[in-house]
Amino acid sequence: MRRLAALPLLVLTLGCTTTSDEPVPPIVQSEAFAFVEDQCSGCHAVRPGAESPNPRAPSFEMVANDMGFTPVTLHEFFRDGHDVAGQMRIQLSEDNAILARDYIMSLKHDR
Ligand code: HEC
Repeated sequence: MRRLAALPLLVLTLGCTTTSDEPVPPIVQSEAFAFVEDQCSGCHAVRPGAESPNPRAPSFEMVANDMGFTPVTLHEFFRDGHDVAGQMRIQLSEDNAILARDYIMSLKHDR
């Protein structure tokens, strides 16, 4: 949790360099984003506020906020390997599990 607290600060310092209407979180320019965009965006909405291309796949914003995952359980989910209802087979390397976890957890809202 302590590491994640730094993210809003990053938004403040980097967020004004974009010209689009939606503020693009700096994580979108990161390696973590590039990974999920490449591997997951065929089914999941990876950007906040987007709709998943596959309606059965929760958006990553939902995964971060509404599914009860913590950074630890999400990391375990990716490392353990899952075959979710024949929809998604996933087992990530340690490095990729960290990227995916960090990206998704960056979408967690402060409540
Ligand atoms: C082929 C489509 C597809 C791809 C590609 C895909 N997913 Fe999924 N994912 C799904 C679907 C569908 C579900 C919902 C399954 C269900 O519970 O019914 C899901 C569920 C999830 C969940 C929630 C797990 C749960 O408990 O339901 C997480 C987290 C997740 N995906 C992460 C990822 C990540 C990270 C990637 C890329 C590395 C990825 N997915 C790639 C289709 C996909």
